[in-house]
Amino acid sequence: MPTHRIAPSLLSADFARLGEEVRDVIAAGADWIHFDVMDNHYVPNLTFGPMVCQALRKHSTVPIDVHLMVQPVDALATAFARAGADLISFHPDAGPHVDRTLQLIRAEGCRAGLAFNPATPLDVLEWVIDKVDLVLVMSVNPGFGGQGFIDSALRKVERARRLIDASGRDIRLEVDGGIKADNIRRVADAGADTFVAGSAVFGAASYAQAIGAMRSALA
Ligand code: DX5
Ligand code: ZN
Repeated sequence: MPTHRIAPSLLSADFARLGEEVRDVIAAGADWIHFDVMDNHYVPNLTFGPMVCQALRKHSTVPIDVHLMVQPVDALATAFARAGADLISFHPDAGPHVDRTLQLIRAEGCRAGLAFNPATPLDVLEWVIDKVDLVLVMSVNPGFGGQGFIDSALRKVERARRLIDASGRDIRLEVDGGIKADNIRRVADAGADTFVAGSAVFGAASYAQAIGAMRSALA
């Protein structure tokens, strides 16, 4: 099992001080920066675009994990690759040509991920797993931070773990939504290795304590 990664989501950071927030959360132990892109179309909320990613790139010494909740996908995927993203995930139901989009992201030199909503099956993975570097299982409906963890995600994580192991490929299994120190262990036991946490980190008085509590729960 690969090492655990904790990816704080900037969605819950102070948008008026994003550069500082990125530096602070990395100093507190973040492994990746999770960057939630919402377009007010695929999801009912609007966040930030490639220019903000580019501006933050120089503040980050760790990979930037872009989660695209946008429709259509391709133009923004390219723009984020060129804005310094390291990983780019998208929702397969947001674009008709999933295989082509995965190829496009990888051709730009980024790792490519597929994100699955709580009610979305993993079926497409069977056909494109050779082009996937990350599987992102949503444990909330995308669009907002601070929602409660949906338990059925655990079964989906177990299933994704089996598919990944059967592929023999180096694919990260990330879970996003409602993760806290008190449930992260269950998510890891189901097979996840990468954990997005927005409100649990940025809502805490001490980011280091919040991340530390998650690592202790995982240890
Ligand atoms: C939801 C986003 C998540 C969100 C997680 O659409 O994709 O990354 O920020 O936030 P918490 O950890 O607060 O559920
Ligand atoms: Zn996300």
